[in-house]
Amino acid sequence: MILLNDFGRQWAETKADVLGAVDQVGSSGWYVLGQSVKDFERHLAQWWGIEHAVGVANGLDGIEIALKALGCGAGDFVLTSPISAFATPLAILKLGATPVFVDCDEFGLIDLKESRRVLSARPEIRYFVPVHLYGHSLDMGELAALKKDFDLGMVEDCAQSIGASHLGLACGTVGQYAATSFYPTKNLGALGDGGAVLCRDGTYADKIRQLRDYGQTSKYKHDLLGYNSRLDELQAAILDGAFLPRLSQWTSRRREIAAAYLKGIDNPLIQLTGSPQGVQSVWHLFPVLLPAGRKPEAMAHFKAAGVAVGEHYPMALIEQKALESWQGKLGSDCAKSIEFCRRELSLPIHPYLSDDEVAEVIRVANGWS
Ligand SMILES: Cc1ncc(COP(=O)(O)O)c(C=O)c1O
Repeated sequence: MILLNDFGRQWAETKADVLGAVDQVGSSGWYVLGQSVKDFERHLAQWWGIEHAVGVANGLDGIEIALKALGCGAGDFVLTSPISAFATPLAILKLGATPVFVDCDEFGLIDLKESRRVLSARPEIRYFVPVHLYGHSLDMGELAALKKDFDLGMVEDCAQSIGASHLGLACGTVGQYAATSFYPTKNLGALGDGGAVLCRDGTYADKIRQLRDYGQTSKYKHDLLGYNSRLDELQAAILDGAFLPRLSQWTSRRREIAAAYLKGIDNPLIQLTGSPQGVQSVWHLFPVLLPAGRKPEAMAHFKAAGVAVGEHYPMALIEQKALESWQGKLGSDCAKSIEFCRRELSLPIHPYLSDDEVAEVIRVANGWS
């Protein structure tokens, strides 16, 4: 079976480095917010090309804590994407704020023209969580313009897009904050949960450090109510010693596979979305669009041929039962997002796919009728 993620192969290649990292933490005798978290934060920020990275427990917490640091809370409205992981709106709702969903474009990304229209019509919207979905970056110039024109608090959701850029500008660098996730399937995945908040300004970074650790300014001194959302020391050591040093190479391999799919898949029933112009995608996923109503058939075809496929996502967020009561707050009707989710299928794209497996995925895709 060609898998969506092949952790067995990853483990075989990285095991020695991972065990070395575990040994380092064990020997240090410092198991929470120690040297490994500090080192990883520094190296992650360097890799990203941003001033500060602060490790947190997971991506969901990263978004919530960053929004809280910007003052977002009960009664606030937050513009966001209707196609994303459930964590994106959940982070907003956990603060007592209300997500306002704006429809997607042809890539499944939040439509920034539509966002501008909604922001102009609804001045009560003071925050924005743009999601850089599938490994694509949104238009960074337009994000910067929206932030400035509407004086927004912005937390870029970069859980799927570590290393992506638009016209040379790294995603995550125009909002006051960006948040990312080290969930195992992510491009930089831990052996468990993890996340980080990124920012340019040192005082903003200090606020996150305070919030992730019970709101402490110094030991046992609490100026505000915070969280227990610390990046685990072992996960930080593993990310720093075993996975971050491989991320550039893994990203290049994802790009090679995406290029092979874009060149090789030639089936009128399978629409390749590609990546938006000017975007250097990191191809967290490889979404394709199928004719409406034929997704179950296509999934059965791939499965029978030994190729695992996924759905990101089977439905738009506004269709989730838990979000029913917020549907009245839609920025736009989100019909395109609903349609996109009905048609979307994700093909395997991970750095441990062999050339033969890539060729096999292409063959199976072209053989579907
Ligand atoms: C777009 C997006 N945002 C947020 C998250 C939340 O990350 P985590 O699972 O680490 O909480 C994820 C991952 O699941 C994601 O894909």
